[in-house]
Amino acid sequence: MKLTFIGGGVMGEAIIGALLNKGIVQAADIAVCDIAARRRRHLERTYRIKAVDSSAAAITGSDIVVLAMKPQDFPAAAKGMHSRLKASQTVLSIMAGISTTTIRDRLGHEAIVRAMPNTPAQIGEGMTVWTATEAVSPQRRRSVQEVLGALGQEIYVEDEKYINMATAISGSGPAFIFLVMEALIDAAVHIGMRRDMATPIVIQTLLGSARYAQASGKHPADLRNMVTSPGGTTAEGLLALEQAGIRAAFAEAIMAAYEKAKQLGG
Ligand SMILES: NC(=O)c1ccc[n+]([C@@H]2O[C@H](COP(=O)([O-])OP(=O)(O)OC[C@H]3O[C@@H](n4cnc5c(N)ncnc54)[C@H](OP(=O)(O)O)[C@@H]3O)[C@@H](O)[C@H]2O)c1
Repeated sequence: MKLTFIGGGVMGEAIIGALLNKGIVQAADIAVCDIAARRRRHLERTYRIKAVDSSAAAITGSDIVVLAMKPQDFPAAAKGMHSRLKASQTVLSIMAGISTTTIRDRLGHEAIVRAMPNTPAQIGEGMTVWTATEAVSPQRRRSVQEVLGALGQEIYVEDEKYINMATAISGSGPAFIFLVMEALIDAAVHIGMRRDMATPIVIQTLLGSARYAQASGKHPADLRNMVTSPGGTTAEGLLALEQAGIRAAFAEAIMAAYEKAKQLGG
């Protein structure tokens, strides 16, 4: 399987690193096109892959062409690729917001996978939600699944509308969780704990809670009730969170991010 990355930034590099680490492809089978010379040098030196500045040259002979530039750079990048892709090649876009219809129109190409990864993909703990157009063969879908699986967990969805929803939940989600993390650390400092002590305590509490929820398979409310003794400290804290409208705040955040994702996609 030969892959070309158009855009070798943070996410492109995360995928390249994961694929090589897991031995899914060899360095000789990866090419990257990036307009930044500094990025090309970095990727060539770090991963021993071919890095070029012309997308037309990079996509020749590739099975999967990964679109990993920022959405706003896509129109310019698409000009260099329009009508140059063969029907047997698959375009795999990780760009936020840009629909498969827009990608098809801009590239003049039918076989498109649209995926929404997230930043924990950089350590193989990502959550990727993806969909594919009818022109993507079952065999190529399996290859794409293998590529995305290198980043962590992946879920295929039939309907593209779920990609915009996933953009709000798993794509933006890490930023929401980092905000919660920061708020808990600041609160610990506020009641008198040192920041260097509070940080690992908070991170492990979040990590342990997520792993426990995953391993137990129990409803989050059940897990919460198990640590809420009558008249206890947790009950007191939970009441304060409810009074501050925490559920509504998260609902608003997800709905706002979802609306933005739909808007970006036109
Ligand atoms: N980061 C996330 O959490 C996340 C999650 C899911 C999806 N995504 C999506 O992943 C994509 C990449 O994000 P990122 O954070 O990796 O961005 P990034 O670090 O800015 O990487 C994009 C790279 O592409 C290069 N580039 C721009 N235009 C190009 C062109 N025409 N041809 C070749 N290379 C070009 C950029 O060069 P210059 O710097 O010189 O412009 C940059 O090195 C975005 O579409 C984003 O929506 C990101």
